[in-house]
Amino acid sequence: MASANLTARPGSPLRGRVRAPGDKSISHRSMILGALATGTTTVEGLLEGDDVLRTAAAMRAFGARVEQLGDSRWRIEGQGGFSEPEDVIDCGNAGTGVRLIMGAAAGFPICATFTGDLSLRSRPMGRVLEPLARMGAYWVGRDKGRLPLTMKGGNLHGLTYRLPVASAQVKSAVLLAGLHADSGVEVFEPEPTRDHTERMLRAFGAEVDVADQGGVRRIHLGYGQKLHGTHVRVPGDPSSAAFPLVAALIVPGSEVTVEGVLLNPLRTGLFDTLREMGADLTIANERQEGGETVGDVTARHSALKGVVAPPERAPSMIDEYPILAVAAAFAEGETVMRGVGEMRVKESDRIALMAAGLAACGVAVEEEPEGFIVRGAGKVKGGGLVRTQGDHRIAMSHLVLGLAAQTPVTVDEPGMIATSFPTFRSLMTGLGGEIAEA
Ligand code: S3P
Repeated sequence: MASANLTARPGSPLRGRVRAPGDKSISHRSMILGALATGTTTVEGLLEGDDVLRTAAAMRAFGARVEQLGDSRWRIEGQGGFSEPEDVIDCGNAGTGVRLIMGAAAGFPICATFTGDLSLRSRPMGRVLEPLARMGAYWVGRDKGRLPLTMKGGNLHGLTYRLPVASAQVKSAVLLAGLHADSGVEVFEPEPTRDHTERMLRAFGAEVDVADQGGVRRIHLGYGQKLHGTHVRVPGDPSSAAFPLVAALIVPGSEVTVEGVLLNPLRTGLFDTLREMGADLTIANERQEGGETVGDVTARHSALKGVVAPPERAPSMIDEYPILAVAAAFAEGETVMRGVGEMRVKESDRIALMAAGLAACGVAVEEEPEGFIVRGAGKVKGGGLVRTQGDHRIAMSHLVLGLAAQTPVTVDEPGMIATSFPTFRSLMTGLGGEIAEA
């Protein structure tokens, strides 16, 4: 997506109260489960970012009626299953979209061809294709399981599967395929990952058992589960809230509150880590909404210190390391982020791009195969032109950095910010941040 560069300039403090956009993970799932269910699903607070809109279009292609009612409210009329799409399913930039949809589609005796943009076509799909093939799905495509590929599903068998990588996307693909297998599926996850699929399957009427077996999580979905349409209230995305909150921590004089942020403990690793760094981060008005805990999170400018981010916390903040690295650049001392090799297979190689982007802004960074170390000096020179390779989180992280650096920071290809946070620029400028086309 071609778009003019964006530049963030240091300036006044950030102040105000905002709402984070809807959670991306829950938004994708509301579309997919709504299409798989029988009857009407209504969604409020859907993230209307490009990734989720691709999933909505895919659900239409598989036979569901999907309608935008306005104001982030949507209605999905599910057919209780997928029918064969007439055309290629293009999931754009969305790894979550395509991996979950492939899992869901594998349950039906239909043929579907999946593709995506340049970034998605380079990302590994073998991690979901392997368990789906063990259940009985077939696929053909380019080598190494990259998109585009064509899959034919149906007549699936049950599966017992131990996740080889900590990935909620893989877990979810197996569970969604398992809805139409001839016996139950069980997934063992050595490191717990976000549990939105389990929670939402229950909300749509399925029985899902989750138990701890000697430190390993076992998720069991029994045979013959039926999904029924329901109402989904999408909480604010903590992965998006992270950007204005970290901006407030590093821009002197700032105080920002983000309302209605999802506080599921499998998603809040960043907040724990920032607190350990000395961040003044408080939560008010904690409440239950749509089966999840949400709250209003306030960040005030803070003197931060470097920490070791515990590797076992990685799954609960895997998308937040880029913005954590920005906080680390303004901290005093070393922040060590290890056990995050998965960052290399996200929308870009996020370890490499963060290391390069921070270095371009005068920050000392050391890259390792499965992690990186940021040596913070309390202040950042800035001035860099940061290459984002169209990765939304790389772009937003460096724009936040530019709001607190000594000189402006420019990012290329910022158009992809719309995949997860279409209102990022207006929200940040509304708080007082200076972000403009360069
Ligand atoms: C997601 C899971 C994570 C995360 C992604 C959303 C999900 O990916 O990076 O942005 O909604 O399940 P992995 O499960 O592959 O780590």
